[in-house]
Amino acid sequence: MDLARFPRRRYSEGPTPIQRMDRFAEAVKRDGPAIFLKRDDQLGLTGGGNKARKLEFLVADALSRGADTLITCGGVQSNHCRLTLAATVKEGLKCRLILAESAPGAYRPDGGGNVLLYHLLGAEKIITVPWGTDLQAALDQASEQAKTEGRRPCVIPLGGSNPVGALGYIDAAQELLIQAKDMGLTFHHIVLPVGSVGTLAGLVLGLRANGSRVPVIGASVLNRREKAEAIAWELVRTTETFLSIEPCVTRDDIFCPDDYLGEGYTIPTEGMIEAVRLLARTEGILLDPTYTGKAMACLMDMVRKGRFMKGENVLFLHTGGAPGLYARPEIFR
Ligand SMILES: Cc1ncc(COP(=O)(O)O)c(C=O)c1O
Repeated sequence: MDLARFPRRRYSEGPTPIQRMDRFAEAVKRDGPAIFLKRDDQLGLTGGGNKARKLEFLVADALSRGADTLITCGGVQSNHCRLTLAATVKEGLKCRLILAESAPGAYRPDGGGNVLLYHLLGAEKIITVPWGTDLQAALDQASEQAKTEGRRPCVIPLGGSNPVGALGYIDAAQELLIQAKDMGLTFHHIVLPVGSVGTLAGLVLGLRANGSRVPVIGASVLNRREKAEAIAWELVRTTETFLSIEPCVTRDDIFCPDDYLGEGYTIPTEGMIEAVRLLARTEGILLDPTYTGKAMACLMDMVRKGRFMKGENVLFLHTGGAPGLYARPEIFR
């Protein structure tokens, strides 16, 4: 699919590598499948991660509409907020963040991880709201406020998950299909974390639109399965409409197991801790505690239960997030 008609900024150099993880695969299960990582943790902007792809289209869209201030939202340790802020720094724009606190006082200005980076990168304003707040309403309100100050604000939704943001992962799907062909590889399964669903929706749409039927497993780390799948399906349909293409994704293509979410978003699980430790100690690669750690726990469990087998190639999309490790070091001690 030709995405050249959409405005785009460039925040990364070339395709991210696809690397084979033999030591890790052997440690997960002897005689299991081959495991590969697509290193989207090595994308551009501050610290990389999946949002760097979405923001190439989202920020270009905002610039084309004359924005001078971007406003977005996330949890207290939001990779999306960090990367949106980094993009505004690069573009010479201002950035305001709305952070939803899981408990009163969860946001501390002297916090580590992404919170440290919000300050280092120079967020213009940080507004905290209680968990469960209608974030779209809070974004709209902050936008109205900015207008009264003479700004030209543009709101970027939670996780950058709208049809414009999804373009980043349609592009990533096309990139990985070309890489697989060049490497002479067939991937039998793809596993990734799912939060606000834009990465999954774009990826599945990009794969199917290019004729690939590879099953995609989106381990949900935010919502229960039913909700995650419903919003992903909705975003796929609105993105197909936005692109004016014939529907190419079926409802069965959207699979978001929530078995690895544990007690809830950001709450650690044993599987996550094992996954983060194992990849660090076998390959020297960092996952994060909120997204990729739980999604890797999903992959490991599926390998051990025989869902992925010897002779198959499993691709894990490493969506970044490592600054989250430094926010809560006690989890890993
Ligand atoms: C590191 C990381 N991985 C995965 C995700 C989930 O991506 P999406 O919100 O597109 O589902 C996020 C979202 O913030 C993230 O920060």
